[in-house]
This record gives sequence, C-alpha cells and structure tokens, in this order.
Amino acid sequence: MLDVLVGGFYGDEGKGKVASYLAFKDMPEIAVRTGGTNAGHTIVYEGKKYGLRTLPSAFLNGKTKLAIGPGALIRREVLYKELEETKAKDRLIIDPHTAVITEDEINDEKNDSLLSGAVGSTLQGVGYAESKRVLRKLKLAKDYPELSGFMNNVPEMVLDALDEDKTVHIEGTQGHFLSLFHGEYPYVTSRNTTSSGVLSEAGIGPKHVDNVIVIFKAFITRVGGGPLEGELSAEEAKRLGIQEFGTVTGRMRRVAHFNAKIAKGVARLNSANQVAITKLDIKFKEAYKVREWDRLPEEARKWVEEVEQEIGVPVTLLGTGEEAMDIVDMREKVSG
Ligand code: GTP
Ligand code: MG
Repeated sequence: MLDVLVGGFYGDEGKGKVASYLAFKDMPEIAVRTGGTNAGHTIVYEGKKYGLRTLPSAFLNGKTKLAIGPGALIRREVLYKELEETKAKDRLIIDPHTAVITEDEINDEKNDSLLSGAVGSTLQGVGYAESKRVLRKLKLAKDYPELSGFMNNVPEMVLDALDEDKTVHIEGTQGHFLSLFHGEYPYVTSRNTTSSGVLSEAGIGPKHVDNVIVIFKAFITRVGGGPLEGELSAEEAKRLGIQEFGTVTGRMRRVAHFNAKIAKGVARLNSANQVAITKLDIKFKEAYKVREWDRLPEEARKWVEEVEQEIGVPVTLLGTGEEAMDIVDMREKVSG
C-alpha cells in the first residue's frame, strides 16, 4: 500500500500532523520525506512539540524507517538537531543522491534581492542548492563520509517493501500553489510540490500509488509574495481567529477563506482520491478535539459535506486540534 500526502494550498496545511497521525494508524514500514529544509512541520504529541524540517513526520510512531528521498535536500546541522530531538538515528536512511545544502547556498540566497525581496523566500538555501544540483555543482549525500552510515537506495527499499505488501508513506512538503511548475511563478518554491513531483523526488513510478491524499486547511494562508484570491486584512483574520505565524520564519501569514472551487482544481491535478481538511476546530470552535463524525457540531458537518460535494473527492480526514491524534478518520469511506 503506497500513500502519497501533499499540501493543497500554499503549505502549512498541517501535513506534519496528518502524516504523523497516519503513521501511527497504519504503521508503515517506510516513510519517505521529500522537499527541503524550507518547510517546517510542527507536530504536537502528548503536549510535546516537535519542529521538523528534514525527517519524516512518521518518526512519532517509534517504528517506521525514516527515509530521505533522492530528490530531497538536507542540511547536516538541521538533520543532527532533529535526530537528537527525535532519538530516531537508528531508523534513518538517506539516499546517496539526496542533495546537501551548505552555508554557501544560504548566503547566496540572502544576497539575492529577488528571492529575499518580492518572492519572499524563507532563505534556507534550497533554491540555490537546487540550481547548483541542476548544474552538477552541488555535493550530494554520498560525497559526505560522515553520512555514510545512513546511505541506502531509497527507491529500491520502497519497491522491495511494496513487493512484500508492506505500507509506505511518501510525505510531500509545502503546497500545490508553491509548485515551480504548477504554482504561481515566480512566487513559488524551487521544486514541483504536487503529487507527480513528490513521486519523482522519491523515485517511485505512478502505478505503485494506492492513495493520493491532498491536505487542505479550513482556510487558506500563504507567506511571501504573490497572489492570494480573497485575501483578508490582518485585522479581519485576527477577528475571525484565523491569524497564523510561520514556523520557520515567524512571519505573519496572509489569510483567505477556504475556496472549494480552487480545491477542486487542485484535487484534480494531483489525482487525489482522498481529501484531508485540517483546523476544522478553528473554523467551528465546538469541533475542538472531537474524534468522531457524529459528535461534530452540525454546522461543521454541513460545511464538510458541501465542500466534499463541490470538490468531488471524498473527505476522509478532518483535523480538530493541534495534537497528532486530534483527527476524525473516515477513511473507511474509500477503503470499502
Ligand atoms: P508545511 O506545510 O510543511 O510547512 O508544514 P505543516 O503543513 O505541518 O504546517 P505547520 O507546521 O506550519 O502548522 C501546523 C500547526 O497547526 C501545528 O502547530 C499543528 O499542531 C497545528 N494543527 C494542525 N492541524 C490542526 C488542526 O486540525 N487543528 C488545530 N487547532 N491545529 C492544528
Ligand atoms: Mg509549515
């Protein structure tokens, strides 16, 4: 069973939380992280908060092998800090082709007026590292002897696990509209963040995929420049209780209401067969920490049903609180 998780808007939809929940429930053999250190997943479990920029969110279940895909980009300092925080060193696998970001690329990015200005990059060096990789000027994980203990061929390991009928999760980062190809260029990130891109970064062909889960939030946020349809003023967002601040940068996020028409297009392009919606409790306060559909406030259920109708893809997971387990899981809708 291969599940792919991707963000449906501009990142920060709560993918970290959904991924860690699913990893607890499904106990995948392997979870593959894609993307770079510019995305911050926040995971809260039993009151403890973890901030991850490199490791798969599946670390939380204590068992799953944690793989970094060949198309991903890591930074050693960040990796070591996260291994310390999660005590997951023995479960880590890094593909030899994973890109390694250094201080050089971070400095290059800080000095780039377009990226630090209009684009509003998080300045983590990911874009410069990716461009150097394209020019064959970047060192990869295999070039660092200190990483040799973690090396293994991630695509082969995933395919072997699937051959043995085991479960694998692939975790995307950021979101659909930040995709280099399918987002709002130039206000995008340096990678293709959609399901096709995530598969390419993991090195797995599309026919192996069982589920593509697109994760939306009950409202839309974005950081940095670029368009945001229906953008609310900061005061309005605050009044509605939907104001947010970035995990990596601390910047105030721009906000808009949920847009089902946009979500429909996103679900289609990502060939999603499931939709997750997080932060239902922020939109409907009485949904807080509810874990069963029948116990949700009626107006929340009505809203979800309407949204599902408009998107045309089953809504199978609802986020109702900051903790990893604060989820209404309705996946039986699609698994029969
Ligand atoms: P990226 O998209 O990779 O940047 O990360 P992300 O999608 O994991 O999002 P981010 O870490 O920016 O934000 C998630 C935050 O929202 C965390 O603090 C979560 O605990 C919290 N969160 C996630 N889902 C829910 C939810 O359903 N309700 C509430 N109240 N909080 C949630
Ligand atoms: Mg984030």
